[in-house]
Amino acid sequence: MCGIIGYCGPKPAAPILVEGLKRLEYRGYDSAGICVGNERVLQLIKKKGKLQELRQAVPADMLGTYGIGHTRWATHGEVNDTNAHPHFDADGSIAIVHNGIIENYNALREKLEDEGFIFRSETDSEVIAFLLGTLYEGDLEQALKRTCRILKGTYGIVAMHKDEPGVLIGVRNGSPLVLGIGEHEMLLGSDVTAMLAHTKQVIYLEDGEVVRLTADSYRTTDLRDRDVDKKVDYITWELEEIEKDNHRYYMEKEIFEQPESILRAMQGRLDRDSATAHLGGLNMTNRELLEVERIKLVAAGTSYHAGMVATYLIESLARIPCSAELASELRYRNPIVERNSIYFAISQSGETADTLYAMRELQRKGARVLGICNVVGATIPRESDGGVYIHSGPEIAVASTKAFTSQLTALYLFALLIARMRDMSYEQGLVFIDALEAVPEQVRAILDRHAEVEALAKKYAHAEDFLFLGRGINYPVALEGALKLKEISYIHAEGYSAAEIKHGPIALINESTPSLVIIPDDGLREKVISNMKEIKARKGPVIALAVEGDRDVAAIADDVIYVPRAHEWVYPFLMMVPLQLFAYYCALELGRDVDQPRNLAKSVTVE
Ligand code: G6P
Repeated sequence: MCGIIGYCGPKPAAPILVEGLKRLEYRGYDSAGICVGNERVLQLIKKKGKLQELRQAVPADMLGTYGIGHTRWATHGEVNDTNAHPHFDADGSIAIVHNGIIENYNALREKLEDEGFIFRSETDSEVIAFLLGTLYEGDLEQALKRTCRILKGTYGIVAMHKDEPGVLIGVRNGSPLVLGIGEHEMLLGSDVTAMLAHTKQVIYLEDGEVVRLTADSYRTTDLRDRDVDKKVDYITWELEEIEKDNHRYYMEKEIFEQPESILRAMQGRLDRDSATAHLGGLNMTNRELLEVERIKLVAAGTSYHAGMVATYLIESLARIPCSAELASELRYRNPIVERNSIYFAISQSGETADTLYAMRELQRKGARVLGICNVVGATIPRESDGGVYIHSGPEIAVASTKAFTSQLTALYLFALLIARMRDMSYEQGLVFIDALEAVPEQVRAILDRHAEVEALAKKYAHAEDFLFLGRGINYPVALEGALKLKEISYIHAEGYSAAEIKHGPIALINESTPSLVIIPDDGLREKVISNMKEIKARKGPVIALAVEGDRDVAAIADDVIYVPRAHEWVYPFLMMVPLQLFAYYCALELGRDVDQPRNLAKSVTVE
């Protein structure tokens, strides 16, 4: 979703802004722009399309050492140069970039139009710039604070004025904004990747906070102008981690990183002596954990699927009622918070608006909400009552892969911890640890055979519809497999419980609708084989995901992708990886933009 970068320092701003936007590309965008200030003139360049368009339009010798930049993911108004950010106020003295949505923009726009102002774009953001212009009395910071009192909605805004050279003002309300403190230079960004090349020292702004920065100073205040003391955090990610290395796409890199990322998520957290897990960040005593009577997992997209997998595991192992719910649904149905229940907000980015707002609503009702997040210092981990970082390293591709398997790892650790406090014996705990510790190498073995999946993707990529089928704990894996294929290849795919197809989707089966059927060696194997036969009886092509040496499956399916034999609980990891590869290679075959699929954003910070 939209990205923001701001720079004040001694160097030419334009290349730094464009480079920062490059780092933000992964969030998803459809147009981009920069504004650079020089000798009381604001120079604005905006372009629809990829960053390359903007890069070509920016003169190599553009002067000016402070400025702002933006990648836009359209919400209000179509994708064109005019609607791209930055936006000027009426006379071009002020420029702003904005992330979020201004809910009362229509009323504000009409009022300003009645006063004679003529808007250039169709965006809600331009209203901010115009309003700011009308409220400006020689001090941009004060004008922005006055503007914020009028705005309703969510925003991260950075503003600059031609008569206040070298000064940027940022404000946050619902859309992330991070200050980067460099050597005689300051940056502002919607996330830390935008500034990692310049500094690792950052300050995360909270809602209602304003920052005024120059090359050598910053001051943080609230909207009532009171100073706010902020802690300086240190980014642990390395610049190399956000590079592509020798991979064609970030998605490929991230899929192949999974043996290491899964290991990182469990490292230092497993305790063989006690056959349990240690998750200090939960901020819960053993007694509090023992009192838990219900667990709810709240998330969106891929993170929701990770939560769904965990419900099967936690209920079976810990015998605690556990359910997963879409954050966007939970928030608006006045959820009932029961005594002795705990919630998990699962979010790779830690910024997804649906998940964040659901978490806040639950907290208002007195719930304890724990976060499972990847991005350290993001809003969800900051506002949650505790949680687990998954330590996957930066995930740049829009389609989430390594974060999913690391979320699973964290949830498996939690399941072990809470199950060991109940019915799970020491011996069972050790079996579980063995199973989990074997996963990274099993995933590596699957990745080593990627060429087989690639060949199948080439064979099937031109089908128009796919079914992904699984049962039990692998049912959410089928949903996630279908989501991956849809997201990056634009092929229509539906995930279903294999048992459920006879209640409708079987009507779709014919010679040209392939089904990917997940058949681990677990208690449901025979049943899924029967479901697969139902498809074959209707001439539907079947690609089975089965356990090495499963001859019964090979005899029925058209093609088989094998995974190593494992403990039945860990098949979701092993079945997911070939499905990620399948989606990736199908997208390659179809020539799609794998890392930045159309219409999608990595971090969806609006509802
Ligand atoms: C967006 C992304 C998905 C992601 C979902 C939840 O829709 O495109 O890949 O799964 O948001 O993101 P989160 O950061 O909360 O896990």
